[in-house]
Amino acid sequence: MAEPLPDLTTTYLGLALKNPLVASASPLSRNIETARQLEAAGIAAIVMYSLFEEEITHESLALDHYLELGADTYAESMSYFPDPDTSSVGPDRYLEHLARLKGALSIPVIGSLNGVSSGGWVEYAQRIEDAGADALELNIYYLPASLDLTASELETNYLNLVRDVRSEISIPIAVKLSPYFTALPNFARRLVEAGADGHVLFNRFYQPDFDLETFGVTPNLRLSTSNELRLRLRWIAMLHGRLEADFALTGGTHTGEDIVKAVMAGANVAMTASELLAHHAQSASEMLTELQTWMVEHEYESISQLRGCMSQRAVAEPAAFERANYLKVLGSFPAPRPSRQ
Ligand SMILES: Cc1cc2nc3c(=O)[nH]c(=O)nc-3n(C[C@H](O)[C@H](O)[C@H](O)COP(=O)(O)O)c2cc1C
Repeated sequence: MAEPLPDLTTTYLGLALKNPLVASASPLSRNIETARQLEAAGIAAIVMYSLFEEEITHESLALDHYLELGADTYAESMSYFPDPDTSSVGPDRYLEHLARLKGALSIPVIGSLNGVSSGGWVEYAQRIEDAGADALELNIYYLPASLDLTASELETNYLNLVRDVRSEISIPIAVKLSPYFTALPNFARRLVEAGADGHVLFNRFYQPDFDLETFGVTPNLRLSTSNELRLRLRWIAMLHGRLEADFALTGGTHTGEDIVKAVMAGANVAMTASELLAHHAQSASEMLTELQTWMVEHEYESISQLRGCMSQRAVAEPAAFERANYLKVLGSFPAPRPSRQ
């Protein structure tokens, strides 16, 4: 008799998912047909592209100006902003699109708010919930350029924002973070205390490049490779089982084996964007087949059996995640021989 297939089901932010592969926030959710294809290819949930704080405040600033100064000056005031038809599609369109995605898909849809400051724009968390989102991902993308802002002040700002959003909504919240925190475990714990139900690790910062001909600073969006996985694996492995929070790994998920590693570290789900953007929905079903094949070959019956088996608490050598490993890794590199002259 054939062996039963492994049970791929998982939970994330209280949502029951058919497997641990989630489409990360990206333009993939802008088109309903593309989202349908992702669902058909096996994607278990989809995170919408973000609604940005700037889009919300820009719209309300324009409206304030209109109300204060009257219709005559409205056109002039609007000329200071990018054309709404060509730049942001606007918060209302975002909410309409979310409702349409919900109507078209049977998998969970996670809304995404991207911002840094406390303020009125946070009300949009409520509107995202009302539009039908199953959970909210809060992407806090702040680049601290000020010489005066301390790490502690910065963290307080993040915590206040999470508290504000928490007070607006009752759906689960996941916070998407960058890896650049001095004491990530402590900060991750305080985010949970502030109301986060999960952590999405990690944001990719897009580093600008220099154009050596034009002397311009050029934006540079490169899709990821599986090499980016390791930073995420380390931190999820170190935090798994120590916080009342779920984990999503984002950054570098390209193969079924990458999903295996994410779950082994302790992630509830592995998110993917670059792989789907480069190779379309088909790659999702290939990744899921690879995941299943790996589990059969290694005799794992379920995702829950696999989860956290390589976390720091589970492995025989917990120091492998810490400083001791750094010394070992450097020491393991063979001394180069002198080159022939
Ligand atoms: C073209 C593009 C657009 C993205 N847009 C968003 C976004 O709107 N909000 C967000 O939180 N992340 C956004 N991301 C980041 C992805 O969700 C993801 O975290 C990142 O690409 C790392 O995952 P990957 O290695 O699977 O690509 C975007 C990524 C790409 C490549």
